Amino acid sequence: MDETITLVLRVAPDEPSPGPIATAAAALRRGWLVAFPTETVYGLGANALDPAAVGTIFRAKGRPPTNPVIVHVADEGMLTLVAADWPPAAAALARAFWPGPLTLVVPKAAAVPDVVTGGGPTVAVRRPTHPVAQALIRAAGVPVAAPSANRSAELSPTRAEHVLAGLSGRVDVILDGGPTPAGIESTVVDVTTSPPTVLRPGPISVEQLEAVVGPVAQRTKGVESGPSPSPGMMARHYAPRTPVELVAGRDRLVGLASRGRVGVLALGPAAGVPGEVVALPADPAGYAARLYAALHDLDALNLDRVLIEEPPATPEWLAVRDRLTRAATLE
Ligand code: TXA
Ligand code: MG
Repeated sequence: MDETITLVLRVAPDEPSPGPIATAAAALRRGWLVAFPTETVYGLGANALDPAAVGTIFRAKGRPPTNPVIVHVADEGMLTLVAADWPPAAAALARAFWPGPLTLVVPKAAAVPDVVTGGGPTVAVRRPTHPVAQALIRAAGVPVAAPSANRSAELSPTRAEHVLAGLSGRVDVILDGGPTPAGIESTVVDVTTSPPTVLRPGPISVEQLEAVVGPVAQRTKGVESGPSPSPGMMARHYAPRTPVELVAGRDRLVGLASRGRVGVLALGPAAGVPGEVVALPADPAGYAARLYAALHDLDALNLDRVLIEEPPATPEWLAVRDRLTRAATLE
């Protein structure tokens, strides 16, 4: 694709000043690409109602056209431009968790171009809570289509530096609002099915969803291939370049880590563990917040492999374990 010059603008995450926001919003209205922080990861945004602009996202990422993108809205007014129907489960979940890290799949409105939805009849929408994302979408005055701001199948970005490393020359503006707080991508729920189906686990847990809408179905495989599934194609997602291996148990971890040039993501304090060790917090939210940055850092060291100490197979670790499994899937 054509190379551009990437403009990086710093903004305060809590109270972004109007200047950079206005510049980025003008870029969006012109059909350009803007990367911006959300509470989950950085997004690579374009005007969702402009098919040419959304097409640029796919080229910049090298993303297969069958994998649809999430549309970000600032308020109810924008939602009505995007969604043709708002089922009761959507209303209940939005009331409970919006703005926030929850994406709802609903019937799409006619104004949403096919390139956004992979040609399918549904659209994924989310109203983010990050002040920079909100200010940007509001200033642009249009819904913003934005997948994570990384090359397809690579690690998601939780810092502006990650976006620049992967997409420099392919994105027009990056709003640098510092590290993103949740650190993993939003929970995706399809509310066109009964019961609603969790397509991707995330910061809003199954337990939290079920407290609002009752039992939900779960599909933890296949979401990355979008509405026309190509089996296995996108299984290796969120992956660093260095081979990754999940390791159960501290003793095994210590044994494997002493061989070769090895990076280690330890679960909790890691005194006595050899290798390039990053000790991540032993709670799911703390771990998720730092996971991608730790993998980006280890990846930059050109190690032989990265060992990840496996977190417990309990419900509160579901979203993190989903990302770890994908990072470790080789094909
Ligand atoms: O936290 C997030 O969701 C971030 C930030 C930037 O908002 N975005 C993100 O986008 O992770 P992306 O494109 O990397 O992931 C979007 C997910 C994919 O798994 C995609 O298949 C699914 O949402 N998706 C999008 N539209 C869909 C649709 N109409 N039906 C089913 N799944 C859909
Ligand atoms: Mg992504």
